[in-house]
Formats: sequence, structure tokens, C-alpha cells
Amino acid sequence: MTETQTYTLIDGRKISSEIKGEILAKVAERKSLGKKIPHLAIILVGDDGASQTYVDHKVKACKEVGYHYTMMRFADTISEEKLMKHIDQVNKDEDVDGFIVQLPLPLHISVEHITEKIRSDKDVDGFTNHNFGSIISRNPLIMPATPFGVMELLRRYSIETEGKNCVIVGASRLVGAPLSMMLVEQGHATVTICSKYTKNLSSITRLADILVVAVGKPGLISADMVKEGAVVIDVGTTRVEGTQFKNGFALKGDVDFKGVAPKTSFITPVPGGVGPMTIASLLLNTLRATENRNP
Ligand code: GUN
Repeated sequence: MTETQTYTLIDGRKISSEIKGEILAKVAERKSLGKKIPHLAIILVGDDGASQTYVDHKVKACKEVGYHYTMMRFADTISEEKLMKHIDQVNKDEDVDGFIVQLPLPLHISVEHITEKIRSDKDVDGFTNHNFGSIISRNPLIMPATPFGVMELLRRYSIETEGKNCVIVGASRLVGAPLSMMLVEQGHATVTICSKYTKNLSSITRLADILVVAVGKPGLISADMVKEGAVVIDVGTTRVEGTQFKNGFALKGDVDFKGVAPKTSFITPVPGGVGPMTIASLLLNTLRATENRNP
């Protein structure tokens, strides 16, 4: 007997492509009114394969929506001081509306120093302390791309967050921490954040109406850790190598999809769930930065 699918697959590719369509229309309108076209600069240090792939996707997305873009590549031997000088140049470049420094950086360069060097109104990753803090203000500025993407998925699938028990596994500065603030401030949810220090993780995840996992440990969440009917958002994207995969690797989420999906009401796949939303959010943030700088 074949089992009928009772859950809804949250299609990040579809939503991301809808958002790109909306952005394309806005760019066309700006063009027709003689307004500035958004310009994104991307700084890539070193030759990490995964970072290169992410950056390629970002460049492709810029092309799709008609943004101008600049790619700046530096060897992984570049000093922090030299990289700071380049960031300063981009900060001052009036044509650049937003820019990102792709992470991770080589160990001799401080992510904190580099992030804080970026002008906050051009920080379209939303990583600076200023933008991070603005999440809990009345007027959020630029929001970190991945949590923004998660919020947008919940919103576009009409998933109610108000009064819901949200459990986030992973307390990182890029995802878990800002998402917790967004879910409280914008989503009016009750939020629990779990980290590697959390004891008896499954006793907490089982309470979740909405479970978000952003750890980077493939298969961490099994079916017994999820409440019947929960919404499950998998932010994990770990490259698992193997000769059986087409490119020599496959992207794996933190959730055992096969086991967990039948218990859920909504679930994101990996790939094709949160991943494409990160880029859509980056494009939205770049448009916002452009509109702020050049209304
Ligand atoms: N590395 C992994 N994710 C990201 C991201 O969203 N932005 C940047 N700059 N680097 C990353």
C-alpha cells in the first residue's frame, strides 16, 4: 500500500523565484524612472570550494534580477590590514549600494574586525552589530539573510507564529540568535534556543510547534524528537563527500527527512528549502540598501 503524503513541502526554490520576479519588476521600474540600479560587491578571500559555489550562485542571482555586481577576489595570504583597506574603498565607493565579505575567512583574519569595518548601511548580510541590534528596534534596518529567509518562508506559507512554541537548535550569530529575536519581535512566538550545551535535547524539541535546526550535523533530528504535526525548518547544509554523488558530494540537512517528514505538517527539504531563500534575502537587502541610499 502506498502512503499518501500528508505534509506540505516548503519549496524554497519556488518562493525564491517569486521574490526574484518581484525584484526584477522593481529594478525595471527604477530603470524606467532613471533611478540607480542596485550594485552589489562581493569579496571572496581564498579558494574554498563551498564559498566559491555560494558566491557563483550570488553572482548568477544578481544577473537574473538585473543588478550590477563587482567580484573582488583575494588570495588567502592577504593580511587583515590589506583587506581592511579594500573594505574601506568599497565603503567609500558611491556606486556600490551593498557588499558582503564571504565567510569563512582564513584563520589569521578576524571575522569580527572585518564585519565591523563594513558600513552598516551597505552591510547587506546584516552582520554588523548595528544591524544585528536593530532587529529588536521598532525600525529594523537590514536583517541577516538566512533568518530573514526563514521568516519569509513562514510568512509566505501562512504559518502562524503568534503564541507558538518555537524551538531553535543552534545558537549561532548568523542564524539561531538573530532568528530567535525575529520570532519574538516580529512573530510574537515563545522561543527556546538550544545549543551544544543543552541537556536532553529531544525533551525540548518534542515541545516545538515550529522546530528550526541550524547546527550542521547531518541527521541530528530524528522522528522521535519531533511532535506530530510540527513545522520543521532545516537550515543545515553540510557537504557530505562520496563517489556515488554526481559532483562528488551531496548537501545534507540536519533533519532525517525521510523519517521526520511524515510526522510534520510542513517541512523544508535540503537542498531546495532555506538555501535559495538566503540569496533571495540578500537581493532584497541590496534593493533596500539601494532604496535607502538612492530613493
Ligand atoms: N558563509 C555562509 N553563509 C554566508 C552568508 O550568508 N554570508 C556570507 N558573507 N558568508 C557566508
